[in-house]
Amino acid sequence: MSNNAGRGEKEPSRREPGWSTRAVHAGEARQKPTSAVAEPLVFSSTYSFGSTQEVIDYIQQNQQRAEYARYGTPGEVAVERKLAALEGGDEAVLYASGMAAIVGLFMTLLNQGDEVVFFDECYHRSREFCVRHLSRFGVVTRQVAACQYEAMEAAITPKTRLLVSESPTNPHLSVVDLERFVAIGRRHGVATLIDATLATPYNVRPLEYGVDFVLHSATKYLGGHNDLLAGVLIGSSEKMEPVRKLRGIMGAIANPHGTYLLQRGLKTFELRMERQNANGLALARFLEQHPRVERVYYPGLESHPYYDVAQRTMRGFGGLVTFLVKDADWRETAAIVDRVRIPRIAPSLGGVESLIEQPLVMSYFECTPEQRREYGIPDNMIRYACGIENADDLIDDLKQALEA
Ligand SMILES: Cc1ncc(COP(=O)(O)O)c(C=O)c1O
Repeated sequence: MSNNAGRGEKEPSRREPGWSTRAVHAGEARQKPTSAVAEPLVFSSTYSFGSTQEVIDYIQQNQQRAEYARYGTPGEVAVERKLAALEGGDEAVLYASGMAAIVGLFMTLLNQGDEVVFFDECYHRSREFCVRHLSRFGVVTRQVAACQYEAMEAAITPKTRLLVSESPTNPHLSVVDLERFVAIGRRHGVATLIDATLATPYNVRPLEYGVDFVLHSATKYLGGHNDLLAGVLIGSSEKMEPVRKLRGIMGAIANPHGTYLLQRGLKTFELRMERQNANGLALARFLEQHPRVERVYYPGLESHPYYDVAQRTMRGFGGLVTFLVKDADWRETAAIVDRVRIPRIAPSLGGVESLIEQPLVMSYFECTPEQRREYGIPDNMIRYACGIENADDLIDDLKQALEA
């Protein structure tokens, strides 16, 4: 039994409220317990019934209330509704992390002998889960080069159940043409998943293109403060029902404190996204002009191979900028990372604090050079995740690091 009080309700309105109005108010009761304005934080792992008859009524009438915290918590109801409202979907299911959400969806949809096709530019742990772990259950994963739609279609067999891509991809920031991606899925009767962590609903809403499932690592922009782990899957109520049920068995629910932090972080979602989009573009433009830079990957730059798709489908291009340092080996590249003073050297992105990393070191250090070539991770690559600091300060800092 799951606690799914009020999920999937559409808010009655003549037009969709603005981003911040939704981010602040959507999903929340106007009058809350204890009359608190902020969402209350409830830590209980279990929820009591007044009598045995109440337990029976709850079971027989499928009442919507909390029972045991692995199935759902009072705090997540509001945040799930808020996330569904931002994404324009019926229902959101919250997880303990983005990876828990990915695993939760795959375990819900896939059976032995099924196949998954995914674009190969992706978060390395998502790839690892498919290649190393789904294979142990007889699920075959086929990787095709990012945005190669003919190759994706050619990789589909009668056993294919799911097409997967990030958009934009991490760390190359390739942008998927969602119309083409969805058309392939529909032609072959295969479900589609977009991990839109790097875009956020502010920049693109894949459900509007007909994608079946949208996934976010809410650890990133949605939480926005580098202080929580969470993940979310959004889709139709019908598709989310088995997903939620399996989550209750997996125990992959977000903890109440993380849920509270996400709820709080979301209040400033639009303000942060505006700033992070602006910072990303400013930094990318600066880097593109800099003589020490060989190449910049940022979908808001005309030089980016997916600029046209991005212009057509995205509202802004996010705070993540990836670039290659000209004529630098991995140590010279690392020296630039070590010289910056504002961003911290850390994995992750989307928080208020800027972060910087060298993908070779942070995520691919144990790979062979051949694997790194295959994944498109050169030694001189730097991934810069803009926070909400002032763009001029970020640029001055990076300039001194490049020119020292
Ligand atoms: C694009 C993308 N998807 C999923 C994840 C996994 O999210 P989490 O770290 O919240 O498990 C990440 C994490 O870096 C990511 O970058």
